[in-house]
This record gives sequence, structure tokens and C-alpha cells, in this order.
Amino acid sequence: MRSLIIYYTRSGNTGLVAHTIKKELGAHVREITDFTNNRTVLDYMFPNLIDSASISPRKVDIDYYETIFIGTPVWFGSLTPAIKKFIDNMDFKNKNVILFNTMKGIGGDIAIKRMAKLVKKHNGNVIGSFGIITRGDDYDIMDCTRLAIKNLELNKIGNG
Ligand SMILES: Cc1cc2nc3c(=O)[nH]c(=O)nc-3n(C[C@H](O)[C@H](O)[C@H](O)COP(=O)(O)O)c2cc1C
Repeated sequence: MRSLIIYYTRSGNTGLVAHTIKKELGAHVREITDFTNNRTVLDYMFPNLIDSASISPRKVDIDYYETIFIGTPVWFGSLTPAIKKFIDNMDFKNKNVILFNTMKGIGGDIAIKRMAKLVKKHNGNVIGSFGIITRGDDYDIMDCTRLAIKNLELNKIGNG
């Protein structure tokens, strides 16, 4: 399975999840950087309505890959402006997409639903998703990620 993991992280948790997936699956990774410094509360709360991200890379060439993982922290029950913008810039036609997010504990499911809707709008075939609670230490995050990948049962989806 040729997999690419694309993620945004501010304080490192989503990055740790991404790199744990990389290690487990032998996938490639690309980090999205957001150069925006000043955000209003509204920018944080309504990433689907307000474009407040200035990202790099703006797009990623995904031709080579069969499966694309996209990861984001949960911000106010939604995805981050950076990942919203990235998805908006992409076409996921003929790609299987797996979504993941990290959070302290609230809003992960609704954030995944919003993200799935957006990815589908950009022609992606969402085949799985998971959320990781980041209240524990790095070892907890890595353990939870390994379990989540196992639970995806990727070999049964026919991509193994
Ligand atoms: C602006 C902001 C909003 C957040 N909103 C939520 C939230 O709605 N629910 C939640 O459980 N955690 C929330 N968090 C916590 C982060 O989702 C959590 O710490 C996440 O693991 C951070 O990921 P990162 O280290 O990759 O940046 C928020 C954090 C920030 C900075």
C-alpha cells in the first residue's frame, strides 16, 4: 500500500501520530505549515466559512499514492484552517482517504464528519477515520495510534 500522511500540527501531538503511522506502515509524510499569526475567535471557530490560513505547501502531488492519510488537531470541534485550506486546494479523485485527528477529548467525531464531507466534495473516497485523545504522555499517544491503525483493518479493505 503506497501511503502518504499529510498533517498539520501546532504543539506536536498530531505530528507524533503522523510519524507513528509512518513507522508502522512505512508511509511517507508531508507536514503542512501555517504562517498565520493573528487569528480572531471567529477564525478559529468557523474554518469552513472563513479562510484564515496561509499554508505551505499549498498542494501536494499525490499521483504515486493509493491511500492518503490527513491529520489535524481538533480546534473548537472542527478541523484547523490549515487543513481546511489544504483539502480545498486538492483533488482526491481515485484516492482512498483516511482521516485522523487529535484532541483533549471533545468534538472529535463532529470534526471528522466535517472533514469527511469536505474530502468527499473534493472527490476523495473516505475509507476510515480515527481520533486520538492527547491527555496522556507521548507513549500513550503512540500506543493509541498503533491500536487505531490495527482497528482500521487495512488488509481487509483490500489495500494490503
Ligand atoms: C485553538 C484550539 C482549540 C482547541 N479546541 C479543542 C476542542 O474543541 N476539543 C478538544 O478536545 N481539544 C481542543 N483543543 C486541544 C487540541 O485539539 C489538542 O491539544 C491537540 O492534540 C493538539 O494537537 P497538536 O499538538 O498537533 O497541535 C484545542 C486547542 C487549540 C489550540
